[in-house]
Amino acid sequence: MKINVLLSPLTADELYFTGKTVVAIDVLRATTVITEALSNGTKEIIPVSTIEFAMKVSGNSFGGQTLLGGERNTKKIEGFNLGNSPLEYSKEVVEGKSIILFTTNGSKAIVKAKFSENLFICSFNNLKTVVNHIVELNKDFEIICAGQNGKFCLEDSVCAGRIINEISKVKEDVELNDSARAVVVLNKSFGKSIRKMLAESEHGKILIDNGFEGDIEHCSKSNTTEVIPYLNQSVIKRLEPGR
Ligand code: MLT
Repeated sequence: MKINVLLSPLTADELYFTGKTVVAIDVLRATTVITEALSNGTKEIIPVSTIEFAMKVSGNSFGGQTLLGGERNTKKIEGFNLGNSPLEYSKEVVEGKSIILFTTNGSKAIVKAKFSENLFICSFNNLKTVVNHIVELNKDFEIICAGQNGKFCLEDSVCAGRIINEISKVKEDVELNDSARAVVVLNKSFGKSIRKMLAESEHGKILIDNGFEGDIEHCSKSNTTEVIPYLNQSVIKRLEPGR
């Protein structure tokens, strides 16, 4: 099994993902939010890459069943129903709803990889379940780290390293590109306390400064849900068993 890691979405164009199996990571906080929302009964999430498109899509929906969620500079966007804190995406708020999600890095990375054959969304909260599924699928795959404004970020890289570490425990024939080898080392070094690593990361510090300390705690938790968010035809839903 070959595993390639992309440390930033800028290192590939849309067509690169065509026909590939991909795992997308934005630990702080988009992929944690998506995992949380689907765990709490959200019907579907539509990731978008611009606020204008989010507004347009929500204008076409009706019946009060659609929520607009996401952030700009970590804060809720004017006119949106929800920000990008996983703590906002409770069962009471999101159950049965469709959510249109715009975020600075995460939703854009997912949209970029839309031509993938399989696209799974991963955070620390659902990492083990994603790993089990990938092992079962037994296909080469790409990990796309959403990063920070086109640049490397520590938390997504450590999460990627953790995925590879877990897979390597059960698969012997794992072949890694250079970035994949590097994130394995980062996980070994920074993954001892995920909470500490997140709190001390560049984006973690910004979130704490903006009052989102609780999000750091939530995003740091390992394997709290068995939901696998899966992108199909530009819409993210829970992966149905047997897919
Ligand atoms: C992103 O997509 O960049 C993040 O999710 C940002 C955030 O939640 O602060």
